[in-house]
Amino acid sequence: MSCMSPLFSLMILHLFFLHLNLSAFGIGRDQFVYSGFTSANLTLDGAATITPNGLLELTNGTVRLKGHAFHPTPIHVSKEPHGTVQSFALSFTFAIYCVQPDICGHGIAFLLAAHKNFSNTMPMQYMGLINEHSNGNATNHFFAVELDTNCNDEFKDIDNNHVGINIIGLNSANSSSAGYYDNRSGNYHNLTLASYKVMQVWVEYDEDNTQVNVTMAPLNVAKPFTPLLSTTYNLSRVLGDKAYVGFSSSTGSFISRQYVLGLSFGMNRPALPIDITKLPKLPHEGPNPQSKVLEIILPITTAAFVIIVGTIVILLVRRRLMYAEVREDWEVEFGPHRFSYKDLFYATEGFKNKNLLGIGGFGRVYKGVLPKSKVMVAVKKISHNSKQGMKEFAAEVVSIGHLQHCNLVQLYGYCRQKGELVLVYEYMSGGSLDRYLYDQENKPTLNWDQRMRIIKGIASGLFYLHEEWEKVVLHRDIKPSNVLLDDEMNAHLGDFGLARLYDHGAEPQTTHVVRCWYHRLPTSRARTN
Ligand SMILES: Nc1ncnc2c1ncn2[C@@H]1O[C@H](COP(=O)(O)OP(=O)(O)O)[C@@H](O)[C@H]1O
Ligand SMILES: *[C@@H]1O[C@H](CO)[C@@H](O)[C@H](O)[C@H]1NC(C)=O
Ligand SMILES: *[C@@H]1O[C@H](CO)[C@@H](O)[C@H](O)[C@H]1NC(C)=O
Ligand SMILES: *[C@@H]1O[C@H](CO)[C@@H](O)[C@H](O)[C@H]1NC(C)=O
Ligand SMILES: *[C@@H]1O[C@H](CO)[C@@H](O)[C@H](O)[C@H]1NC(C)=O
Ligand SMILES: *[C@@H]1O[C@H](CO)[C@@H](O)[C@H](O)[C@H]1NC(C)=O
Ligand SMILES: *[C@@H]1O[C@H](CO)[C@@H](O)[C@H](O)[C@H]1NC(C)=O
Ligand SMILES: *[C@@H]1O[C@H](CO)[C@@H](O)[C@H](O)[C@H]1NC(C)=O
Ligand SMILES: *[C@@H]1O[C@H](CO)[C@@H](O)[C@H](O)[C@H]1NC(C)=O
Ligand SMILES: *[C@@H]1O[C@H](CO)[C@@H](O)[C@H](O)[C@H]1NC(C)=O
Repeated sequence: MSCMSPLFSLMILHLFFLHLNLSAFGIGRDQFVYSGFTSANLTLDGAATITPNGLLELTNGTVRLKGHAFHPTPIHVSKEPHGTVQSFALSFTFAIYCVQPDICGHGIAFLLAAHKNFSNTMPMQYMGLINEHSNGNATNHFFAVELDTNCNDEFKDIDNNHVGINIIGLNSANSSSAGYYDNRSGNYHNLTLASYKVMQVWVEYDEDNTQVNVTMAPLNVAKPFTPLLSTTYNLSRVLGDKAYVGFSSSTGSFISRQYVLGLSFGMNRPALPIDITKLPKLPHEGPNPQSKVLEIILPITTAAFVIIVGTIVILLVRRRLMYAEVREDWEVEFGPHRFSYKDLFYATEGFKNKNLLGIGGFGRVYKGVLPKSKVMVAVKKISHNSKQGMKEFAAEVVSIGHLQHCNLVQLYGYCRQKGELVLVYEYMSGGSLDRYLYDQENKPTLNWDQRMRIIKGIASGLFYLHEEWEKVVLHRDIKPSNVLLDDEMNAHLGDFGLARLYDHGAEPQTTHVVRCWYHRLPTSRARTN
């Protein structure tokens, strides 16, 4: 359906040209440093993988996932059995990619835990640390430092970009917006966790006064003197004699990828510095990470030059081929929801008037048959010039595409051309309800049974949008022309979510409700087809 992006080939070549670093040195049992994870023997579960160039990828861009990674052997945190947890220090480097940094989920947590079996935890706001029943339960036995990119009232989160110290649960003992105090002036600088910039975090615990300090800074800034946050807690109360060092991470309804690039740990001794020159490169999506060493600039620029020239040639040829689409690299995420313009052009026989189903407030709607699958679809062309809202809207299209209910018009996907957006919906052979109500020349009058059935269908569709899906979606534009009927005269609600694209900012209060994406417990999620 969608054509292969030249950027994808760029990514592959990019990986190919990178030199591999071998840089995990196990030094004794209680001190280790990973500058990249190429030869590391981590214990992984869920979505966590180690990429060929040595990145620890905790989640991979699929929604509602969790991933864990642990240093394989436990650390002796107390000198003798039933002793006290000794002082330790650690640092790690991470990066989080989100399609949109301000609506993102759910972050990374550094973990020191009595075990490494987190199989009965949940993704989403539970961050793979707990499940809906186990928050704050003393049997949890973990100490975590969370880098949380989502604001959950449930756990009293302060914002959607914070660092928190979490012991046995997700209600932080202390938390702070991500940032650091620079040494010279002592001024506070904000950091955005989901900026896809590599950042470093330091955690220290002092056995005598049971103090935990957490500090963070951008990769190229040395460890600031003033910690970002601290708390006093006797970790002997949660950890036993041995503990595992690792990470937990989860995604929710928004596409995000979460990476750890390096980790250093020292029990009762300082953590060795991570060699930042050996850290693996992040995949080429979103903004670029930090500075590059000269020796790798040369091959990359040469490769990039060749690829750019190739891309330009391909683009020029494609532009001639008339189906010029607008496609940006963030859209790689939306792969399966993206249709090629060519397919839609063929499906609607070139958007011929004979296939026109109707003209609505947002644009013209055509009937079509997808060339490969022979599925009947309704294709809606919307002219839209604002580049600004496009990314957000596309994210929403994908999100809406996940809504599935027998009383909603299923959104199959979208396609983008310059100044134009094309949405592809399930075809409704009965047309819209307004034709039956107001345009009775061509349509039979509905009997009371049919009317009742239609009303029940609308109610059921709305109930799903408001109550049954894990986010609250407000339709905001219910009218007969938005109620479509299938061949058995079942009602399907259409056009939900579209109002936002045009109303954006006009009604701050309703917009807020939609943006808030209330997460429901998955147990109450009922997916009907
Ligand atoms: N999925 C569909 N299947 C069949 N017909 C459709 C579909 N979507 C829209 N239509 C037809 O196109 C007309 C215009 O659609 P739409 O843009 O949704 O109208 P409005 O903007 O007024 O709500 C509708 O009245 C209906 O007849
Ligand atoms: C991400 O990981 C999950 C679980 O391991 C897997 O089902 C999914 O296909 C992966 N997605 C991508 C884009 O690799
Ligand atoms: C990797 O770790 C596992 C334990 O998690 C261990 O059984 C295995 O021997 C280790 N492999 C290597 C090559 O160290
Ligand atoms: C992890 O714990 C669950 C129960 O909580 C258990 O069913 C499972 O077997 C455990 N897995 C391992 C690898 O020990
Ligand atoms: C804590 O967890 C244990 C084991 O999972 C369970 O038996 C116990 O009921 C839980 N306690 C509370 C207060 O939920
Ligand atoms: C940092 O971010 C917070 C929350 O977004 C904001 O209130 C504050 O003004 C910002 N501070 C600076 C110095 O930019
Ligand atoms: C934590 O920070 C405070 C204040 O900067 C400092 O006095 C203390 O020694 C630090 N504790 C640890 C364990 O680093
Ligand atoms: C800040 O001060 C600490 C302690 O004096 C020092 O170790 C660190 O390198 C300094 N960081 C910067 C960025 O100057
Ligand atoms: C949270 O951390 C800050 C910064 O270190 C500190 O000033 C504050 O007292 C801490 N709050 C609590 C409740 O520990
Ligand atoms: C911390 O707790 C352990 C065990 O409960 C206790 O032996 C130790 O004295 C406590 N440490 C401090 C500083 O209170």
